[in-house]
Amino acid sequence: MKGILDLERLTNLSIEQYEIILGVAKNLQIIADLSQADIFIDCLLEDVNASLVVAEAKPSTTSSLYKKSMLGQIAYEEMEPGVLFSLKTGKPVFGSRGITEEHGIMQQDIVPIQDLYGKTIAVLIKESDISQVVQNENNIEQLMKAINNEEKERVFQAIVVQEIHHRVKNNLQVIASLLRLQMQRSHPVEVTEVFHDSISRISSMALVHDYLAQRGIEEADIKVLIQQISTLLVTSSIIPGQHIAVTVKGDSVFCSSDKATAVALIVNELVQNSIKHAFPSQNHGEIEINLRQRKQMVTITVMDDGCGIGDSFSLDDMSSLGLNLVDMLVEERLRGVLSFHLANKGTKVSITFPIEQNPIEI
Ligand SMILES: Nc1ncnc2c1ncn2[C@@H]1O[C@H](COP(=O)(O)OP(=O)(O)O)[C@@H](O)[C@H]1O
Ligand SMILES: [Mg+2]
Repeated sequence: MKGILDLERLTNLSIEQYEIILGVAKNLQIIADLSQADIFIDCLLEDVNASLVVAEAKPSTTSSLYKKSMLGQIAYEEMEPGVLFSLKTGKPVFGSRGITEEHGIMQQDIVPIQDLYGKTIAVLIKESDISQVVQNENNIEQLMKAINNEEKERVFQAIVVQEIHHRVKNNLQVIASLLRLQMQRSHPVEVTEVFHDSISRISSMALVHDYLAQRGIEEADIKVLIQQISTLLVTSSIIPGQHIAVTVKGDSVFCSSDKATAVALIVNELVQNSIKHAFPSQNHGEIEINLRQRKQMVTITVMDDGCGIGDSFSLDDMSSLGLNLVDMLVEERLRGVLSFHLANKGTKVSITFPIEQNPIEI
């Protein structure tokens, strides 16, 4: 029979054992074709501690890993440790990898062939080319590594940023609560006002961090923030019986948390001023805030229809802390300009500053 050695002559097998191996050998071709692999039967050469290839079949369904016949080849333990292990212990060995003659990668699977008494008399070896499989594995591994690390890094950073904003917000709220407690103990009106102003500044900053913590991003839509701050101020500052409406109009403007915090403080001061100073003898008042972005330039205007700021007003007057704070924030934090506009009625203040634009928007 093609591909089988004369076993009886080469090994010390019994007739029955020989018959069993022959039975497997007869089916070798179909196993090779089905598994698309080179299939061998090896027997143990006890005296030299080596294995002998006693039968082989090359697959007709794919190319063989071997150019020549391996029949009669002797392999020593160092060369084929898996085969020798399986022959000696009767245990299967799966998934060992090696290099083929063509420098490809092959996988070797070994199962023992036993006689009727359970003695291992030979092993069946399957060797298949897994170069493509390994290549795919490597590609996927590389891909996973790249995706995973980047993704992980991105997700991790977002979580950290979110957590920091959350903590900053909490800390600011604790400070505001402490000031509120202190305010309740102090009686002079001037002192209460100072507390009130400080609390509203801190609360506006807390709002920015709350916004960023909830969304987990580093850019804030200042239109949304301005809306929230205005609502907060109107509900916390107006005198009972007074109706002051605040409307926020115009473009959504996205900017860094640093700039957003400055804007929040500025709008806090300007809206606070309108509420506090513009309507001393009026029960109704309107405040309008407008946002406008043209390329990288942003203009925010705060208008009210109140009594007006008065001609005598000057920023050099150091007693006016609020507007001095606005001036400082616009200059130093926003690198922009602050302007007071002449209005028929009321006060109109605007700030213009540059922001970094998202490349997609350009
Ligand atoms: N919208 C406004 N309408 C009328 N007067 C205003 C307005 N904004 C500011 N002022 C005047 O400008 C002054 C300075 O304002 P500001 O610097 O914020 O100090 P404060 O609000 O603590 O008095 C105010 O005291 C007020 O007289
Ligand atoms: Mg003020």
